[in-house]
Amino acid sequence: MENLEIAVLGTGPVGRAVAGGLARVGHEVTLGTRDPGGTAGREEYAAWAAEHPGVGLATFAQAAGGAALVVNAAGGDVALGVLASAGGENLAGKVLLDISNPLDSSRGFPPTLFVKDDDSLAETIQRAHPDARVVKSLNTMNNALMVDPQRLGEDTTVFVSGDDPDAKAVVTALLHQLGHGDVIDLGGIETARGPEMWLPLWIRINLALGGNDFNLKIVRGPTLR
Ligand SMILES: NC(=O)c1ccc[n+]([C@@H]2O[C@H](COP(=O)([O-])OP(=O)(O)OC[C@H]3O[C@@H](n4cnc5c(N)ncnc54)[C@H](OP(=O)(O)O)[C@@H]3O)[C@@H](O)[C@H]2O)c1
Repeated sequence: MENLEIAVLGTGPVGRAVAGGLARVGHEVTLGTRDPGGTAGREEYAAWAAEHPGVGLATFAQAAGGAALVVNAAGGDVALGVLASAGGENLAGKVLLDISNPLDSSRGFPPTLFVKDDDSLAETIQRAHPDARVVKSLNTMNNALMVDPQRLGEDTTVFVSGDDPDAKAVVTALLHQLGHGDVIDLGGIETARGPEMWLPLWIRINLALGGNDFNLKIVRGPTLR
């Protein structure tokens, strides 16, 4: 695929991992943050930036405004605010890859989901930004696996959900570039409910195994191969 200008909104572990991964495969990446000067001065961010000199840092609006594709890597509870800061006009018509999970940690551990069953965070974002082409993906695995799934030694599964087939094709091409071998298109944006509701089980598997270096693998029977 052609190299794209990509904004990754969020400078946490997911934003940094995805930005680094997308830059590695040739895209021009800018991270979005509230206060670029303040973020650049943070020790953890500065150490990461020194190893990724090609990745830019800008406000949410500047990053999204200069991009052809936008990634939402903000905390689920702040995602709508971050996307509002990015500006609806800077998202309109663009593919918006949503990685966020609707986790509510306000009542301790384990977190609950603040939207589920009959709605999802991805649908909420799509309703808030009807002109953006929202695709939910990558939220079902740890950030290191998002950009290096082959570290597991075999193909595992990642899902895409969204209403725009062309947007899902762009995200699927990015996923293949990052090393994902099995991409399942679940359907419209409402199908993001399942991948978001996987989180409570992901958390329990994480605790049971004592680590986050695992992923889902859908094994097809002979009639589905
Ligand atoms: N951690 C994982 O491996 C993993 C895996 C799958 C999915 N996810 C999901 O991916 C998303 C990102 O995860 P993360 O751990 O990287 O995120 P995080 O560290 O919690 O969030 C980082 C971003 O949130 C912004 N932020 C925090 N409070 C804010 C506020 N009040 N208003 C506006 N922005 C605010 C920060 O902005 P500044 O840059 O300005 O500080 C920062 O860019 C989450 O939704 C998470 O559930 C995480």
